[in-house]
Amino acid sequence: MKLIAATWRRFTLAVLTAVLVVSSFAIFTPSAAAETHTIKLGTDKGMLAFEPAKLTIKPGDTIEWLNNKVPPHNVVFDPSGGEFAKALSHKQLMMSPGQKETTTFPADAPAGEYTFYCEPHRGAGMVGKITVEG
Ligand code: CU
Repeated sequence: MKLIAATWRRFTLAVLTAVLVVSSFAIFTPSAAAETHTIKLGTDKGMLAFEPAKLTIKPGDTIEWLNNKVPPHNVVFDPSGGEFAKALSHKQLMMSPGQKETTTFPADAPAGEYTFYCEPHRGAGMVGKITVEG
């Protein structure tokens, strides 16, 4: 009887330890890992547009800007967003197809809508919008 009680105690301890380990993971692991999203500059069909032009992301996510068709392009976030918008932008023109730039939205980026455009083709409608979820 003593042996069973001891074994049972040990088993309970093991289960408790396992539960603690698993729950600490649940607490310290971010709920979703940061993702990378690709936005093409110039559509596959050669239109002067971002593809996709609208995207919803989470703070901490990265946008990979892929220079696709009909360059040159650049990415300018609405200057009314001040220094923050400036830091997200890639004002330098991308000349060659296949060229890439990245923009990472900081983990503490405020939720909201961030509009951007391509300077050479803004008039042609090359504009886009990123929604950062709260
Ligand atoms: Cu463009």
